[in-house]
Amino acid sequence: TSNSEVDLALFGALGDLALRKLYPALYQLDREGLLPNTSRVLGLARQEYDTAAFQARVAEALTQRVKANELDKESLKRFLARLDYAQVDFNQAEGYETIRGWREGSPRPMVVYLAVPASIYGAICRNLHASGSLDDETRVVVEKPIGYDLESSKEINDAIGEVFPESRVYRIDHYLGKETVQNLIALRFANPLFGTQWNQNHISHVEITVAEQVGIEGRWGYFDKAGQLRDMVQNHLLQLLCLIAMDPPANLDADAIRDEKVKVLKALKPFTGESLGRDVVRGQYTAGTSGGQSVPGYLEEEGANTDSQTETFVAMKTEVANWRWAGVPIYLRTGKRMPEKLSQIVIHFRQQPHYIFDPDQRSLAANKLIIRLQPEEGIALHVLTKDSGLDKGMRLRPGPLHLDFNSAFPKSRIPDAYERLLLEVMKGQQYLFVRRDEVEYAWHWCDQLIAAWETHDLPPRRYPAGSWGPVASIAMITQDGRSWYEDY
Ligand code: BG6
Repeated sequence: TSNSEVDLALFGALGDLALRKLYPALYQLDREGLLPNTSRVLGLARQEYDTAAFQARVAEALTQRVKANELDKESLKRFLARLDYAQVDFNQAEGYETIRGWREGSPRPMVVYLAVPASIYGAICRNLHASGSLDDETRVVVEKPIGYDLESSKEINDAIGEVFPESRVYRIDHYLGKETVQNLIALRFANPLFGTQWNQNHISHVEITVAEQVGIEGRWGYFDKAGQLRDMVQNHLLQLLCLIAMDPPANLDADAIRDEKVKVLKALKPFTGESLGRDVVRGQYTAGTSGGQSVPGYLEEEGANTDSQTETFVAMKTEVANWRWAGVPIYLRTGKRMPEKLSQIVIHFRQQPHYIFDPDQRSLAANKLIIRLQPEEGIALHVLTKDSGLDKGMRLRPGPLHLDFNSAFPKSRIPDAYERLLLEVMKGQQYLFVRRDEVEYAWHWCDQLIAAWETHDLPPRRYPAGSWGPVASIAMITQDGRSWYEDY
């Protein structure tokens, strides 16, 4: 038997997340032989379905989401046979006996996956507990957003904590499941070359960009209450920042890593009224062109409230105020309806202290490390070499030493983040999941920023869909004599 044998109870079994991400991920794990034969899935939702109809619905979702050449009959049949369905009203204690019945006699630990809004996490945990379906091994998986601010996130974490100890709570930030994000840990801590350079003596500044091409995708109601800071920065961008800035953990244990991340979050500089206008830019997209098509502005999207001040873009300059990073600006930028989907981290090293080449090329004399998360995953180290040719003298030429994961590992499929995360939950490994104090320190920092922009009035600036955000976000970095790096 394998140590990843589990029974998976999936709440929200007919929801968007389950259909778009979870079944395809589970199917791929099954196909790769990573799902033990005994593992079963119980789908739970309010709708009146029976097991056959549920399996048909999942099959349909897989056909839409999984590439045809990865969808073979055998694997599909095997996977569907694992699925059962139970109709349950999550707020009513009654239906939960079904879970107990389904579990009767199973020697495997249960994983409870809450693919539902956080507002009902508490009710589900209480009902599960009351029905006697849980034991000392049951794990729970929850999704972001954990609340709306520090206070609401504490309420949610308290409600989960009444039933599950922290060691069995798996908070997903799907960015932590992305291949290149994990590679950050390998790159930083396995390579002495970077280990010795990774501080304010050698690094001048850092950029983290998470640009999305999509708009609101029919989620206006949710998004308008959140905005890009809560939706993306509080979780994904701060997690990336932590992995870049953290000190080396003593080992790869979940808590060793998470302790170091928490120290970074605690050291993040807060914004003051004075720095706000200079270092933070909020934006909201207007009508424009995306992927060659005309698209509506944020205020013209379906369901929009036409005087919304919610940001769909945010850029900021922040700093980790500690020994390693003091004085190194970290520029963050994320937005919807940008020209392309592009997530990357750029580490800019300091310039050569004594420079002997053509003075006109002086600005070139620094290295850059570019870590590309999507679309094409890879790492590039920009170095300077001599331009070739007899007539070029000692002219310098910047160029990348390039590791492109798709061509470096052509046979391996790059797995979706959810595949890795589900596998780690099944194995009972927590290092890719977010601990309660991480969520709360991240909220604390975002809350003070939101409070500052509400007090000092920082309305979103307009930018046309399909552009790189408000002009002010470009000015924010050029005023420091730098620019956003869009190449690769
Ligand atoms: C989600 C946000 O967490 O991440 C979405 O709620 C966003 O608004 C998405 O579009 C981006 O994820 P990815 O993996 O496509 O970069």
